[in-house]
Amino acid sequence: MGFLRSLKKMIKNTNHNVTQLDQVQKELAQLQQAIKEAHHLQQIQSDMLLKLTHQLAGHDIAKAHFRNLKSPGAEQNDVPFNQAIKEVPLLLADKTYNSSHPNYNADLVRNDPHRVFNAEKSSWNPTYRKLLPFIHQQNNASYLDNSVWQNILQEAREELLTIPHASEIFKNQTYLENYVADLTHCYQAHYIPGWVNLNVALFLYWLVRQNQPKTIVQTGVCNGFSSAFIALALVKNGNGGKLYAIDLPAIFDPKDPSWTMKNSIYGVVVPTSKSPGWMIPDAYRDCLKLQLGDAKQLLPSLVNHLDSIDMFYHDSDHTYHHMLFEFQEVRRKLSAGSLVVADDIAWNASLWDFADAQQVAAYNYQGTAGVAFF
Ligand SMILES: C[S@@+](CC[C@H](N)C(=O)[O-])C[C@H]1O[C@@H](n2cnc3c(N)ncnc32)[C@H](O)[C@@H]1O
Repeated sequence: MGFLRSLKKMIKNTNHNVTQLDQVQKELAQLQQAIKEAHHLQQIQSDMLLKLTHQLAGHDIAKAHFRNLKSPGAEQNDVPFNQAIKEVPLLLADKTYNSSHPNYNADLVRNDPHRVFNAEKSSWNPTYRKLLPFIHQQNNASYLDNSVWQNILQEAREELLTIPHASEIFKNQTYLENYVADLTHCYQAHYIPGWVNLNVALFLYWLVRQNQPKTIVQTGVCNGFSSAFIALALVKNGNGGKLYAIDLPAIFDPKDPSWTMKNSIYGVVVPTSKSPGWMIPDAYRDCLKLQLGDAKQLLPSLVNHLDSIDMFYHDSDHTYHHMLFEFQEVRRKLSAGSLVVADDIAWNASLWDFADAQQVAAYNYQGTAGVAFF
């Protein structure tokens, strides 16, 4: 009897052990699955980080208008947009800074709004000469009276709206705003259309109307908001001017999970049904001669191909060295009286360093864009 009892106990224990073993095996499998998922997540995250870094360096996410722009639908997100952008590192690349970071210091990048550098250099640039009466001295430096822009921009806007099809730009803008708002709502991430603010777009319009360039080169087109203002100014000038532009092919893809991570910030979103420059009204699209690819490769050959360049507008990769590279490339063909304009001058001092090296006057437009006068 005793033997039977101990046999039964042994069988029970064995069953128990088997059940325990089953349990352990089940837990092990769950653990393995969790490790696999974590690894997958890690891969997505590092992929996303790569994309973010790429956007920061090349695709320009922390744009100046970020400061004013509340990402549509940001209120519903766990991490508000303004907080998310502050968490992007201060130093984005050599000599290139995140202007939304709490430790950002404008002195590091010589960002002094309304300042005119090298004002003592005499310049025959027609646009510079137009602004000359509004330049004054303050604390041993020269500044342009910012109030001058109120009337100028108002007039520029009124004139622009008289150009047939101009209203298409604003319709396209509404479409894009709704598109990113839907994305934001759907994925709880922050999507940035990557356009200049309206004041910069009107400033560009005014520069083109003033300076009457025939050959303009632009890097960084994206949806084409700024290109649309430039194209309309060329149309209004009526001198057959062309806008030669370079941009990377559009890369936004909501089917790729690394583009839809919750609380992330994504820049330069071109809707999947559109192509770079689509915001330019259809009637004027042929003003734009667009090449898709990296400006590092394409800009030198474009400059070689052109006889001269009357205006250059940089809005692509905002790292210090890339901007300087672009300025130096276009310098080879700049005509007398030409302009070199850059957006997002809050990120680095390349435009001011370039103007110093070239000994030309340069102006900081509202802490956002800059122009050097040749
Ligand atoms: C902020 S967006 C330009 C916005 C545009 N100016 C507007 O107002 O709508 C920056 C653009 O630069 C382009 N870009 C970034 N790095 C580039 C590079 N190395 N070569 C060419 N384009 C580049 C991106 O593809 C992106 O479309």
